[in-house]
Amino acid sequence: MKRTAPEVLPAEGGLGDEPLLAVDDLHVEFHTRAGVVRAVNGVSYTVNPGETLAVLGESGSGKSVTAQAIMGILDMPPAVIPQGEIRFKGTDLLKLSDDARTQVRGQRIAMVFQDALSALNPVFTVGWQISEMFRVHRGMSKSDAMKKAVELMDKVRIPAAKQRVHDYPHQFSGGMRQRIMIAMSIALDPEVLIADEPTTALDVTVQAQIMDLLAELQRESQMGMILITHDLGVVADVADKIAVMYAGRIVENAPVHDIYRAPAHPYTKGLLESIPRVDLKGQELYAIKGLPPNLLDLPTGCAFHPRCPYRQDNCVTSAPPLYEISGTRSSACHYWREVLDGEQQ
Ligand SMILES: Nc1ncnc2c1ncn2[C@@H]1O[C@H](COP(=O)(O)OP(=O)(O)OP(=O)(O)O)[C@@H](O)[C@H]1O
Ligand SMILES: [Mg+2]
Repeated sequence: MKRTAPEVLPAEGGLGDEPLLAVDDLHVEFHTRAGVVRAVNGVSYTVNPGETLAVLGESGSGKSVTAQAIMGILDMPPAVIPQGEIRFKGTDLLKLSDDARTQVRGQRIAMVFQDALSALNPVFTVGWQISEMFRVHRGMSKSDAMKKAVELMDKVRIPAAKQRVHDYPHQFSGGMRQRIMIAMSIALDPEVLIADEPTTALDVTVQAQIMDLLAELQRESQMGMILITHDLGVVADVADKIAVMYAGRIVENAPVHDIYRAPAHPYTKGLLESIPRVDLKGQELYAIKGLPPNLLDLPTGCAFHPRCPYRQDNCVTSAPPLYEISGTRSSACHYWREVLDGEQQ
């Protein structure tokens, strides 16, 4: 849908009272032949400069669709955004014209995708691909842009960057390719960086290195970062706060340390209990019972109720609001007190 809209772009710099990025009651539907897939059902979250928000949830919970809505890369149709706002420094991106949106995408809000190999073009050298950002968006000459590419490759710790700018993507390991993707995403100094499962395709040691690199880049530049993952194990060291998604909704919001200490939603609790622990070696790994919900036909009441060990009768009929537990914590569970106290029903 093409929207007629003001060309007002958010100003560089000062924020006033507005968060850097605020997703507010966002809904995204896919109108398919099989019916309406309700992928995102009222998601709200904020990110501020220098802050890292981890968005967590199992496959199909709507993490990527929310990110794609922020980036403005959803195919519409089949996607429809019937409700909600995505405010970047106070300006609703959903109301911007296509031209204005293009100026935000990739430049002021950038994204690192999960699969570096398919995102890179096999027929161009990595140096050419990184330097393209500067040629196209900054109007730099080929040689100046190539110098910037070397600088960036250095910055993301690719050894012998000066020689390796001339190599092709297939000549790099998976971890190095992901570093190249990160280099491209930060090339234009974005204010917000969305990293969608940036380490899923990598082995554990390389995962840790990439997470460290992202955290370091973020500290230096004070970008706001949204880190999407389904692995609670990787976020403890890098995130400030966590939003847990289930069936297209946020079910729990919390500062990262609170959530590890005491989750306030049964789903978060289940996720935490499914993290492998070295000290419990040999014990069977806990898995949340049941299957993720069918988004074409969501359960009544609380979408998690069919799998929930805390379920009471009202959970089947009444959808819990996001209860505020404190200024920084909220949980969409009628029984969050019991969950916090660890009392199994
Ligand atoms: N183009 C589309 N048409 C129909 N349904 C879609 C489309 N794109 C996404 N969906 C559905 O939206 C839901 C949310 O998808 P999304 O990609 O956001 O999940 P996710 O939380 O990122 O999962 P994962 O951890 O597997 O990446 C899924 O059920 C998916 O099938
Ligand atoms: Mg995804």
